[in-house]
Amino acid sequence: MNNTIKWGILGTGRISRAFAEGLKFASNGNLHGVASRTKTNAEQFAEEWKVPRVFENYQELAQSDEIDAVYIATPHTEHAANSILCMKNKKAVLCEKPFAVNAMEVEKMIGQAKENDVLLMEGMWSRFPPLMGKLREILSSGEIGEIRTLQADFGFRPPSRDPNGRLFNPKLAGGSLLDIGIYPISLASMLMGRPESFLADWHCGPTGVDEQASLIFKYQNGSMALLHSSLESHTRQDAFLSGTEGNILIHKQCWKPQKMTVELLPSGKTEIIEMPFAGNGFNYEAVAFGELLLSGKKESPVMSLAESLEIMSLMDEIRSSWGLKYPGE
Ligand SMILES: NC(=O)c1ccc[n+]([C@@H]2O[C@H](COP(=O)([O-])OP(=O)(O)OC[C@H]3O[C@@H](n4cnc5c(N)ncnc54)[C@H](OP(=O)(O)O)[C@@H]3O)[C@@H](O)[C@H]2O)c1
Repeated sequence: MNNTIKWGILGTGRISRAFAEGLKFASNGNLHGVASRTKTNAEQFAEEWKVPRVFENYQELAQSDEIDAVYIATPHTEHAANSILCMKNKKAVLCEKPFAVNAMEVEKMIGQAKENDVLLMEGMWSRFPPLMGKLREILSSGEIGEIRTLQADFGFRPPSRDPNGRLFNPKLAGGSLLDIGIYPISLASMLMGRPESFLADWHCGPTGVDEQASLIFKYQNGSMALLHSSLESHTRQDAFLSGTEGNILIHKQCWKPQKMTVELLPSGKTEIIEMPFAGNGFNYEAVAFGELLLSGKKESPVMSLAESLEIMSLMDEIRSSWGLKYPGE
């Protein structure tokens, strides 16, 4: 590997295309290969995105000496197996959120990363845009004091309600919590750590997965988070954090963060900060991952393996409180 990472993509769905677009704006990596379960899909994707190398199946890509890093963009249920396959073949892995279906799978992934001494990271892309760096800077300056409450949500109504599609199919670990609820949960984790206790309720849709979820997290210091996910309605998709000395609104869509309003209290001084994406936003996580790989790091300080595991185990506990288990769990 010189200073340019050769990326391979596993799976040719919707988000693979977004990542391929993002890589066009990544200074330290190129899209070199794509693998699909179906050769023609891989060929089509390669033609569309000008990918030099087509692999006939996932294993072939995992074993190829031509690939340095693999982006896993398959349904949640495949993340652990696909990541492990790649790591066993010494590939660095950036695996889409949610990292896996449950904490047991994440533990196996982390174990494999350690055993093979490779870089592994959850693709929580929202952590990497410049605005999030700015947010972390403001918070550590103490300007808004101590965070006491957070309200954040991610809800949308998919036009297709296909019971076999990955959003609603329990066999593909469907439901709002794992797919989109993870964004407000991950934000809360970044800002406030792990809650000491939670209250959670859900609406179980006709396929048996959570079409809506509402969560209240309480932290050891008494701060609280109110989070919501929905596959039934388009919600505000913003995040409002209130500190003892001020507030920050991360504007819609807070999972794609490009604008925030910072209000200092009691002066009422308000600043609007806009940091639009260069590229489609996926470039930031790709570049950050590339920097880690090129410098020989095995995990990210921004999205650590311990935190990914903690988030997953919290989601396990939430699902368990509802009695929601996926087939095979
Ligand atoms: N970061 C984000 O903003 C974001 C947004 C959307 C989704 N995601 C995550 O990305 C992952 C993929 O989501 P997506 O919307 O891209 O899904 P998608 O359009 O359904 O694509 C998933 C791809 O995975 C492959 N695959 C492997 N095993 C499969 C199986 N058993 N059933 C169906 N497809 C299978 C297929 O590609 P081949 O047939 O070519 O192998 C398929 O095209 C999910 O885990 C999701 O949470 C992230």
